[in-house]
Amino acid sequence: MACSRFEYVKVFERHERLLPGCWAVIRLDGRSFTTFSKTHGFRKPNDARALLLCNAAAEAVLEAFDDHIAFAYGESDEFSFVLKRQSTLFSRRESKILSTVVSLFSSAYVFHWPRFIPDVPLAVPPSFDGRIVLYPTTKHLRDYLAWRQADTHVNNLFNTAFWALVKKGGKSHQEAEWILKGTTSKDKNELLFSQYGINYNNEEPMFRKGSFILKNPEFHQSKGRPLKRKHEDNQTVAMEGTGGGEELSGRDDRKQNFVTLHVDIIGDKFWDDNPHLLAPSDLAPPRIPKAAAGR
Ligand code: GTP
Ligand code: MG
Repeated sequence: MACSRFEYVKVFERHERLLPGCWAVIRLDGRSFTTFSKTHGFRKPNDARALLLCNAAAEAVLEAFDDHIAFAYGESDEFSFVLKRQSTLFSRRESKILSTVVSLFSSAYVFHWPRFIPDVPLAVPPSFDGRIVLYPTTKHLRDYLAWRQADTHVNNLFNTAFWALVKKGGKSHQEAEWILKGTTSKDKNELLFSQYGINYNNEEPMFRKGSFILKNPEFHQSKGRPLKRKHEDNQTVAMEGTGGGEELSGRDDRKQNFVTLHVDIIGDKFWDDNPHLLAPSDLAPPRIPKAAAGR
């Protein structure tokens, strides 16, 4: 196509590229979901439908960038997508990666809404903010993921205790806040058990641990063809080697490209059991996209 005399304006464009060889975490977070969740009557302290909807939106992102995103971790209204260190997605152009992931997640959230929350029409369009943070070492990435899961634990334990005091104990919001002020995790566990007979460890793993989504190893071993199924549909399937005796949510996931786990990702066990998730890119020299070199 012939260049117009106006084309020179392209020189003003900036293409920030993610440093080669670093892990890049794309984190999305629902904008004003405190209000959004009230508007749509999300259940308290946790609404499984809303969390499963976020997981479905995350799967749409993983599906679209299958070779580039190693895995994703989400809880509440946020999701973190871990871009492989070697990925050359969009020549590692930051704004292109971030804007595409945020918009795909948002549209998938709206697209799948009727499937997960069929009785509540969407009253306002949801939106998500996004950022990309680079982590130069695998230890930094592990610590990032541990930070998010520790946050899940702290928030969820607080919310579980808060709503037990309000719903079961008849306390006002302010009274519940006063009671919980300055309490440790042990205190909250004790309060839940002694006053309401709730063993926090028996609460839904998805609420306590968040959702970790990765490629289904069995699906890929069978080169995309589902393995012969032993289990019936809708049966919860235990996954070997994922540690902690936790369970996969949903249907027989061997039919699917991705699996969702609710497991501890702070300790070493999960990562020792699944070494492929963080390797071998740690050892291989980073591939620098041609487009980036020499520019
Ligand atoms: P910004 O992200 O700064 O725009 O604020 P925000 O209002 O989205 O708050 P933040 O991201 O810090 O926290 C997420 C909020 O979403 C929580 O405080 C809850 O109010 C709401 N939320 C997320 N998941 C659930 C859920 O399962 N049930 C209910 N009831 N609320 C939820
Ligand atoms: Mg938010």
